[in-house]
Amino acid sequence: LNNGLAVTPQMGWNTWNTFGCNINQTTILSAARTIKESGLSKSGYEYVIIDDCWSVKSGRDKSGNLVADPARFPNGIKWLADQVHGLGLKIGIYSSAGTATCAGYPASLGREQQDANLWASWGIDYLKYDNCNDGGQGDQQGNINRYTAMRNALAKTGRPILYSMCNWGVADVWNWAAPIGNSWRMSGDIGPNFNTPFDGCPTTGATGYGCSVINILNKAAGIASKGSPGGWNDLDMMVVGFSNLTPDEQRTHFTLWAAIKSPLIMGHDVTKQTATTLGILTNKNIIDLSQGAWSIATRTYLKDNIQVWQQRNTKSTDGIVIIINLGASDQPVAISFAEIFFDDKERQSATYTVTELWTNVVTKSVSGQIVATVKTHGVWVGRLSPSAATKRSNFRKID
Ligand code: GLA
Repeated sequence: LNNGLAVTPQMGWNTWNTFGCNINQTTILSAARTIKESGLSKSGYEYVIIDDCWSVKSGRDKSGNLVADPARFPNGIKWLADQVHGLGLKIGIYSSAGTATCAGYPASLGREQQDANLWASWGIDYLKYDNCNDGGQGDQQGNINRYTAMRNALAKTGRPILYSMCNWGVADVWNWAAPIGNSWRMSGDIGPNFNTPFDGCPTTGATGYGCSVINILNKAAGIASKGSPGGWNDLDMMVVGFSNLTPDEQRTHFTLWAAIKSPLIMGHDVTKQTATTLGILTNKNIIDLSQGAWSIATRTYLKDNIQVWQQRNTKSTDGIVIIINLGASDQPVAISFAEIFFDDKERQSATYTVTELWTNVVTKSVSGQIVATVKTHGVWVGRLSPSAATKRSNFRKID
């Protein structure tokens, strides 16, 4: 969507993954303060997003306006927005393009302008717009109409409001959403599990409900190229920081969400995060894969438990090669440049200085293949810079 927002993927935090409906102004303000004080905001995390269950469930007021639940938000949302703005952060809210939200609260179908005006008057900067209870308008034209109506309403308020379309369950959304929203969900809801079961979305079980990180990653592999500045594939709020994921699994998850240029919306309890989680989420090298001058990662190699993803720098001849290991044990890999750069002879025959971006280990004069040991469920991320001896002008660049 060409509204000047999400030129790079949006970064922030959302209440849902940790708190579900159990939200209030104190939880949200504590999270916002932590985002400021821990350094997360300096790393680019900017939007604090209130998910479902913020309003009075029984309905609207006499003028038809949504009302913030006075028990959860005794000071009102405008007050909360002012507090969040006072911290130098931005604030998001949630509704559904339907007759009720997913948790059964009043939603915005047919009330788009009234609701957009209310949010703008409160100082809202971001809308997550869900797809529950679509009022029988769930075919492609219905989807387009419902989401376009809110885009137009937001634009009419005159306030810049990032428009995050949460239209899970729509098979072709990535083919039509770019002119409508700043991002669009492309999978079922994420759950706090890495790959259990390997490629599924369990509804019950030890790790609870939701799609695994690897389920969503494999789905994204087919459509990664559909994103571009102003409109991104949304791989869902992250589960980095959830104890069901090992630190290596969190690194793999964060690396790919960054490299595929999904919005980077945290979902863990920031007020209780470990130093390891904070270190992962603020890693400059990895955030640069999302916010910097890199193409969207595409998957170029898939064999047994190993996947290779690649990005290219849009201003230089540098490239990124990401190797993940979904196997149950650490694995030595040796993958030839012929397999990795199958479409590019110059890259295949070049010699590189390779910097691994999580460890900053530099290896000079690498040619022919990449040799690395990738930990179980872990990731190896190499930045490949062609050495001076290589004729750089031969490399294809991408704009
Ligand atoms: C849907 C969305 C989730 C969350 C819930 C709230 O399931 O996909 O991200 O917003 O609704 O009810």
